[in-house]
Amino acid sequence: MTKLLTAHFDEPMLHELETFRRLGGYEGLKKALALGREKVVEEVKRSNLRGLGGAGFPAGMKWSTVPSQAQDPGPRYVVVNCDESEPGCFKDRVLVTRAPHALIEGLLVAMYAVDSEQGFIFIRGEYGVQHRILQKALSEARAAGLIPAPSSIDLMRGGGAYISGLDTALLETMEGKKAWPRQPPPFPTAKGLLGRPTVVNNVETLCMVPHIVLKGGDWFAKLGTAKSGGTFLFSISGHVERPGVYEFPMGTPLKEILAAAGGVKGGRKLKAVIPGGVSTPVLTADELDTPMDFEGPRAKGTFLGAGGVIVLDETADMVMVAHNIERFLAHESCGQCTPCRQGSYWHERILERGLSGGGTAEDLATLERAGENITGKVICALGDTVGVVTRALMKKFPEDFKARFPERRG
Ligand SMILES: Cc1cc2nc3c(=O)[nH]c(=O)nc-3n(C[C@H](O)[C@H](O)[C@H](O)COP(=O)(O)O)c2cc1C
Repeated sequence: MTKLLTAHFDEPMLHELETFRRLGGYEGLKKALALGREKVVEEVKRSNLRGLGGAGFPAGMKWSTVPSQAQDPGPRYVVVNCDESEPGCFKDRVLVTRAPHALIEGLLVAMYAVDSEQGFIFIRGEYGVQHRILQKALSEARAAGLIPAPSSIDLMRGGGAYISGLDTALLETMEGKKAWPRQPPPFPTAKGLLGRPTVVNNVETLCMVPHIVLKGGDWFAKLGTAKSGGTFLFSISGHVERPGVYEFPMGTPLKEILAAAGGVKGGRKLKAVIPGGVSTPVLTADELDTPMDFEGPRAKGTFLGAGGVIVLDETADMVMVAHNIERFLAHESCGQCTPCRQGSYWHERILERGLSGGGTAEDLATLERAGENITGKVICALGDTVGVVTRALMKKFPEDFKARFPERRG
């Protein structure tokens, strides 16, 4: 099975420039410079590479919307989103730890493609080890002349807020402001960091780019499905024998992915799978045939997200799962939009009441109603998520909720 990003993960010194280069590293950059900007963007478009940070926006299309220097002269930026704070997702951490130069190479290709001299890597505050690994890798790349002046790549550390992973909130954070999402339009490619055209891409998205340049967009597209090209990294956690990061072609059935991780821990029965990180609605044990690309989970009312597969066995109490997720969203809500700020708080409170023995069937009706009044009435996708996962859990596991929220008489 073709592996792109994890192919050399058994090389202990892969994080060092010398080893990375010996295994073909930075050849993609070399080829990109020979091809020319337009051809690089064209190949990325043909590849069907989707944004792998969760939203799945086609990468080539994003790059091609950056205005040319003739249309809008002045600086333009490429920002790597390495904020990775979605519970259940840890693939960017693994990528940066094992192969930091793969990210630097992808970023340099992206900068070249959109005619940018300034790149940034915005890294989650808690990723201290990875920050140091990237610092060292950047020094190596600079010393080897891979980032020739006036080009520059700078590292920035986040302050520990999930919302800073959302592209427009990330740009606000970088500008030194509170991480409040912006209401597009304009989109960052037109008016991003400091009001200039900016491409924000996920770590994994950029790591794919040198492979596309080297082997061609058509080759990459064929590895995956009709609309989601290439391979994808799944972070697998929860009640599973061998948690970790696994690379599979886009469209691989969920069943195969779970099998690779050794199946359910201790031979217990599977109850559900959260497919893409905690902000994606659950799939039941009967839905394991779902092809894991951007289209497959959508057909089942959920999302591929950033590939954070969380396995839940028969011992999981879905009210506890819902409470855990809504509590996280309430904690991380930036507070800008009232429906999200208040709605997430009340979801947490009501679910807590169920867990502490005071829940009633009426609470379930309130959860339904309250949830429907949030999605679509807020600026960002965090707010849109509030209540969605709970309602999916209520629908698919009504018995768990009836037990915690019983009918009470008199
Ligand atoms: C609440 C929230 C948190 C997000 N966190 C991240 C993150 O940590 N890393 C990431 O790459 N994208 C994250 N995203 C998605 C980004 O907004 C954006 O779509 C992405 O960085 C674009 O890069 P891509 O097209 O390469 O995926 C988040 C989105 C939301 C709504």
